Amino acid sequence: MDKRTPIIIDCDPGHDDAIMLMLAVGCRQFDIRAVTTCAGNQTQDKTLLNALRVLTLIGEEVPVYRGCEKPLFRNLVIGDYVHGESGIDGTELPAPGFAAKTGSAIAAIAAILEKATEQITIVATGPLTNIASLFLAFPELKPKIKQLVLMGGGITRGNYTPLAEFNIYIDPEAAAIVFNASVPLVMCGLDVTHKALFFEEDIERFRGMGNRTGKAVAELVQFFSVFYRSNRPELGGGAALHDPCTIAWLLEPSLFKSKPCFVDVETQGKLTTGATVVDFYNLLKRQPNTEVIYDVDREAFVNLLFASIQSLP
Ligand code: BDR
Ligand code: CA
Repeated sequence: MDKRTPIIIDCDPGHDDAIMLMLAVGCRQFDIRAVTTCAGNQTQDKTLLNALRVLTLIGEEVPVYRGCEKPLFRNLVIGDYVHGESGIDGTELPAPGFAAKTGSAIAAIAAILEKATEQITIVATGPLTNIASLFLAFPELKPKIKQLVLMGGGITRGNYTPLAEFNIYIDPEAAAIVFNASVPLVMCGLDVTHKALFFEEDIERFRGMGNRTGKAVAELVQFFSVFYRSNRPELGGGAALHDPCTIAWLLEPSLFKSKPCFVDVETQGKLTTGATVVDFYNLLKRQPNTEVIYDVDREAFVNLLFASIQSLP
């Protein structure tokens, strides 16, 4: 019997999404039923291509599906100021060795959930457009979801506006639908991801790993670090590996600190659109809807990534 945890991954590669995929495959703990892509760090065309290229690099042919082209109600804003023209600038990835499946991400996730005999975990590391669309179109399938582990938001601050994190800011209406969906949620926001840092010595350690994936990680983080060094000096020269926190939490929750909180999303703020409002002290006396992760053992996190990515080609 397959003891691996069944998951579906929705992502927008993206440097840290790419490393998240490497961790998810390299740890050998997950039965990845599908990878679906959202528009965010780059356009849908590019994030889909990048997912196929990363999976080709690591020799993993899982079904990949194309998601929504743009946020539910807003124009798409991309993250090329961090991730470059391709979405994963800084390394040479192979051309895709296989094609995306036909059919939409939403129909594919629905079919997987429908068919599943056990609950499925969903990991989401981009804007939540596909996931919100799934919840709107197939509300009856929510009980088939064990939990949704997402990268997005923050308790105290943003990284795109003072209070909004990029993934939530890009599609706040989708995020609001997700946080109000009554599906068990785990939120890896900036509080934890800005502690999941990679420094120059970590980059060199991965470069010397001896496989092509380790070299790609080093090149990706090297490129990604340029933005962090110039724009986030408060992080001491480290680059924040946001998206791998989701998979790392599923693998080793003991490396993290978290608290169940009520969370909602601001969609109409004068200054705060896209902010996650996290009731950390339970001031509203509402039932918590989200396990909010806010700290990580950085060294253990880097070691977990190292051990998993070392097993890849
Ligand atoms: C999030 O935005 C993207 O740039 C990253 O891939 C991550 O998912 C961090 O705010
Ligand atoms: Ca992402």
